[in-house]
Amino acid sequence: MSEIRRVAVMTSGGDSPGMNGAIRAVVRAGTYYDLEVYGIRQAYRGLVNGDIERLDTRDVAGIIQAGGTFLQTARLPEFKEEAYQRKAIRRLNEHGIDALVVIGGDGSLSGALALHQRGVKVIGIPGSIDNDIWGTASSLGVDTALDTIIEAIDRLRDTASSHERVFLVEVMGNKCGYLAMVSGLVTGAEFMIIPEEEVTLEHVNAVVEDAYMKGKSHAMIVVAEGANLKCQQIAESLSAHDIGFEVRTTILGHVVRGGRPTTFDRLLATRFGVAAVNALKEGKSGVMTALEGTDIVLRNLEEVIGKQRPINPGYSELLKILTR
Ligand code: ADP
Ligand code: F6P
Repeated sequence: MSEIRRVAVMTSGGDSPGMNGAIRAVVRAGTYYDLEVYGIRQAYRGLVNGDIERLDTRDVAGIIQAGGTFLQTARLPEFKEEAYQRKAIRRLNEHGIDALVVIGGDGSLSGALALHQRGVKVIGIPGSIDNDIWGTASSLGVDTALDTIIEAIDRLRDTASSHERVFLVEVMGNKCGYLAMVSGLVTGAEFMIIPEEEVTLEHVNAVVEDAYMKGKSHAMIVVAEGANLKCQQIAESLSAHDIGFEVRTTILGHVVRGGRPTTFDRLLATRFGVAAVNALKEGKSGVMTALEGTDIVLRNLEEVIGKQRPINPGYSELLKILTR
């Protein structure tokens, strides 16, 4: 067991559906291997403040089906500073904790890497709806977020079609267009505006005009929150050109981050959580669990952090073929 007796787990950054399942798997795998498992409340803030409690298998009963994170989460920008990282290590030592599992997005995993570089045994689990973490086919919560988005877009399409309107639907994703791109493809949107590809207002007007001229009853445009054009600008430009469709805008916002995790996210959470404890058992540190094909693998955090996860270039080609 490479001298590990006490493991702590935390969720950090934006919550994502599946985080609870991952906490549960870490607690149960740890207990299975006779480790003491601790939960850290509110991420790095709780760690620095010593908000740490023992977790047993019963404490994580009935949470796999719930969105959010029962350990809660937080953002502590100061954790980039050496002084805060030292305080965190001091707290871990005070509690006799030998290893840490951090469930979160790229920022949270940067914090995990910083602790690893200071000698703490740390394993990361990618948890973020954005799917912007390099090296894993999916992060926890992406599948659930997509299901929520497509349900919303399907509903909007009903009303758009009834009124002959163009809808601009803004979805989260930070600087990554994955959610916008995939949700647009599977709902039959006319166009997706993503941060990875700058577009002009003229281009968007032309796309909508083309849909109108083809006799379509509506047009859906999915706009990633980090795209170079914002919904309001696009709406003003479309209205000014009087293309034929009335224009409406819907910002899905945080709705997309909540809700019951899908089967895919629950299974991924379970596999990631157990894999994280197994990695610690094998003496590993500074690695992140990742999905590669159908396998769970480990990636060095040093390799993961700072890289941009690319959007499959084939998706733009699909859009071209499907919207002709
Ligand atoms: P996410 O993990 O979802 O990407 P953030 O980028 O907000 O969310 O990061 C979550 C938290 O991780 C931050 O509030 C901070 O406490 C910590 N963090 C982010 N970047 C770093 C970094 N470079 N070094 C250390 N800690 C970091
Ligand atoms: O990283 C997850 C995410 O939901 C992003 O998609 C979004 O940009 C951000 O977090 C929103 O953060 P907050 O909850 O602090 O508004």
